Order: sequence, then structure tokens, then C-alpha cells
Amino acid sequence: MSLTFVVSPGGHLTGRIRVPGDKSISHRSIMFGSIAEGTTRVKGFLEGEDNLATLNAFRAMGVEIDGPLNGEVTIHGVGMHGLRAPTEPLYMGNSGTSIRLLSGLMSAQQFDVEMTGDSSLSKRPMRRVTAPLAEMGAEILTEKDGTPPLKVQGGKSLNGLHYDMPMASAQVKSCLLLAGLYAEGETCVTEPAPTRDHTERMLRGFGYDVRTENNRICLTGGGKLTATDIDVPADISSATFFMIGAAISEGSDITLEHVGINPTRIGVINILRLMGAELTLENECEVGGEPVADIRVRGSKLKGIQIPEEQVPLAIDEFPALFVAAACAEGETVLTGAHELRVKESDRIQVMADGLQALGVNAQPTDDGMIIQGGTIGSGTVESHDDHRIAMSFAMAALRATGPITIKNCETVGTSFPGFAALSRDAGLRVEQQGG
Ligand code: S3P
Repeated sequence: MSLTFVVSPGGHLTGRIRVPGDKSISHRSIMFGSIAEGTTRVKGFLEGEDNLATLNAFRAMGVEIDGPLNGEVTIHGVGMHGLRAPTEPLYMGNSGTSIRLLSGLMSAQQFDVEMTGDSSLSKRPMRRVTAPLAEMGAEILTEKDGTPPLKVQGGKSLNGLHYDMPMASAQVKSCLLLAGLYAEGETCVTEPAPTRDHTERMLRGFGYDVRTENNRICLTGGGKLTATDIDVPADISSATFFMIGAAISEGSDITLEHVGINPTRIGVINILRLMGAELTLENECEVGGEPVADIRVRGSKLKGIQIPEEQVPLAIDEFPALFVAAACAEGETVLTGAHELRVKESDRIQVMADGLQALGVNAQPTDDGMIIQGGTIGSGTVESHDDHRIAMSFAMAALRATGPITIKNCETVGTSFPGFAALSRDAGLRVEQQGG
């Protein structure tokens, strides 16, 4: 049955909360732990559906994994060549990160694998990974339009590749680095702009030599990973909903604890500060190679801005929520250079523009961004298009709306943020769930 959020208007966010673990880091902990030698213990693992899809895929390939239980997972690594053929296609659900990173790893195995996904994942572009992997010697079949299911042929030997990535994508970079672990010689990926570097950091944590020079990341195939312990920080992308909810609502004062503030992920902090948000970082420290901090945000008077394009890849998952902030700001906010938003779990430019317009906001989609005039958010019904981040962003919009906001099809919130409704209700959001 479909899940609807009905959010009553007004209120503000207060208290100290810890949002669930980082999705990107959680995926990588399972992948690298599985092909490492020895036992990897993970704390703070995100028990969302996307990460469980990754975990189940490795179990299906013969890796013994204990948990998850209260965020703890123990992975008994099988080494670089210890994965076994799964008996069925690997189901990746809604998770682009799972299918794209695994396509790199699967290309280097001795067995064939098929990877499938839900209706949203089955529409997402995969040529961005299959084309460079083919240059390395991999063979992957897609649907005619380059979408999943992916059929990866085993038994290929891969060659290292020097690849100039046409788009700023951490998934593509990570996919090629994973294939590169098994390739003959050196694999280097050059990014047009910096993207999240969790793969590079975590591979180094597993003892692999990864070399980063400016925007070029290289490794040499044929090495091995050694098990390590991983402490997953809270996900800045999940913290974002509370940061923005607090920033737009008068009287808010919320602290998000132990959030990952990796410089390749903090576009949302930089953009909110440019918009005038009162945001401070407290208790900064480094945990397992990733910087973390408590983030305190108070209700603020936001102003519209031209969002600097170099911030786009650093905030790529945060734009649905940032559009809500823009709708509450004084003046115009302009986003450009964000065409990638059109190929996320939904077309996040179109879907957010439609939803904001349904709530009476002047939001004009453009090919690669949006122009939003700040003003009043009205009441109404919006469609999440099965996109978790769209659902959670509109939930926060109710803090400033003139009447209730109803958000349809919120089931996918569980892909990245199990318990979102309960946690946000504790913090002060007047959200009720219907169905589900
Ligand atoms: C991710 C990379 C980003 C991001 C996604 C997670 C990752 O995708 O949107 O949620 O973990 O590598 P792209 O690489 O397609 O930008």
C-alpha cells in the first residue's frame, strides 16, 4: 500500500539528533570489506534498503556477513578472488550506487552476473559506466537504450585505462577504480570537477595505494585489500533536511550530531552560508579517515543567490531540499550547471519545479537548473515520483507553508532514511503517515 505524508503547517525544529549513517560510505564498507582479506567490523552502518541491496548481493556471492544489528555489521572478507557466482540475478532495488559500482567489480570476475532494479533504476543511464568498462575489456549487455538489466560476462581480463570523465560522477569514478583493482597496469580517472572521494579514502584505509594529483586519481591493479574497522558518520545528505528545515523556520535551533563533513560533500553548508543561514560546526574531529562534526543550525533570514557552479557536484543530492530553502528566501535563486539532477532517482529539476508550482511557488525549470523566486509556500498535494529526497524535502517545506502539504508515494524514504518521519516528529515537524 502506498505511503503518504501529511504535514501540518508551521512549527520549528529543536534538539540534538543523530541521523542515520552515510549511504555512500555504507555501500563501500560492504564492497571493500567483502573483497578484503580478514574481518571488517562496521559501526554506524545505514540499514536503508539501498545498502541492504548491496549487502544481500555480496551474501548471494558467498560472503559471510553478520548483522546488521543496531548499525553493526561484520564482514568476513573472501579476498580479491573469493566471490562466487550468485544463483540468481542480483536485485539492486532503487540503488544507482550499487549497480554502477558493482558493474566495475563484476566485470573482473570469472563468472557471469545479471543485475536488475526497480522501475526507477531500470530507467537510469548505464552507458556512462559500460562504455569505459568496455574500453578496459569488459563485456556488459544493457537494454537498447543503455538501461538495466545489466548482463556482465565473466572471465574477461581487463586492461588499465586512462579515462577523462565527461561528467562529474563519483559513481563512474568508483566503478572504474574498482575494475582497475583487477586490471593489468594503471587505471587513472580524471574528473571535470571534484566529486565525493569516499572510495579513494576507504581504499587507502584498506591499505591500497591510491594516488590523487589534482583532479586525477590513479591506482595500479593486482594488489590486495586488508580488512579494517569502519566507523560510518551520519549522512550529511540526510542531515540536510533538518539543516534546511531549521534554517527556514523561525525559532529553530537544532544540532545534528557526528555528521560527515568531507570537503567533497559540504556544498550544502557552503550554499546555505552564502544564503545567510546561521550555521556552525562544533566538535570537529576525524574518524577513520573522514572528517566529522556536529552541525548547529538556527532559524535564519535567507536570501536568494546565484549558486556557484563549483558547488554543484559537492551538493548534488541536496538540491531538492535547497530548492525549498530558495522558495523561502528573499529574492531570486538561480541554479545552473546541474544537468545531472535530471538523471537521479527522478528528474529532480522537473519534479521539484512541478511540486513547488503546485504549492504556489514561482519556480521555473531550465535545462540544467532552476530559477526560483522566494515567497510564500502554499498548501497542496505533491507527487514524490518515488524519489526519497523529493518526499523529505517537501515534508520540510511545511514548516513554512500556509496550510498542510500532502506528499504521495513516500515508500522510498526507507531507501536512505529509515525512521525519517518519527525522528522529524521528535524534532518538531508535524508529520503524519498514512498507509504504507
Ligand atoms: C554517489 C554518487 C552520486 C550521488 C549518489 C551517491 C556515490 O551519484 O548522487 O547518491 O555514493 O558515489 P553520481 O556519481 O551519479 O553523481
